[in-house]
Amino acid sequence: MEIRSMKIEDYDEVFAMWLITSKRALSSADSKENIEKYLNRNKGLSQVAICDGKIVGTVLSGHDGRRGFIHHMAVLPEYRRHHIGRALAEKAIQKLTKEGIEKTHIFCYKDNKAGQGFWTDFGFERRDDIYDFSYDNK
Ligand SMILES: CC(C)(COP(=O)(O)OP(=O)(O)OC[C@H]1O[C@@H](n2cnc3c(N)ncnc32)[C@H](O)[C@@H]1OP(=O)(O)O)[C@@H](O)C(=O)NCCC(=O)NCCS
Repeated sequence: MEIRSMKIEDYDEVFAMWLITSKRALSSADSKENIEKYLNRNKGLSQVAICDGKIVGTVLSGHDGRRGFIHHMAVLPEYRRHHIGRALAEKAIQKLTKEGIEKTHIFCYKDNKAGQGFWTDFGFERRDDIYDFSYDNK
């Protein structure tokens, strides 16, 4: 298994993977144009895992200069529970730490037990004291 930074050239393969792993979380923010902007703003921070010559895992990682944010943490179903997700998250956090970021946040659907088990195992602490509010800028 190899982990390397995601490039925009990976987009088609990554997006096909997200359609399997993360469909509910996809939005217009995940268009090729927007992901290219994201990767350019957060150079080298997002990661892909490669096994058997294909991308089997992803993590989008970035920061706003203050806090880190992780999105689309995903591993193809047939490659799960081999600690590929953990290795991707470790690399993402390591890179954020190198940029001086001291805390990282993730969003997880309330009914996503796998996601919650994964992040809890990693050491993330579930917050029950805040709500996430969203606003459509358009
Ligand atoms: C969450 C996800 C990325 C985990 O990837 P993975 O490579 O299987 O995870 P790992 O093998 O690194 O798991 C590390 C640890 O996390 C925990 N964990 C992983 N999957 C879990 C599950 N389904 N239920 C409970 N705990 C889980 C375990 O403690 C595991 O260690 P163990 O296998 O030694 O018991 C994967 O299940 C996935 O892609 N799910 C769909 C997308 C998604 O929901 N992403 C999270 C968004 S918040």
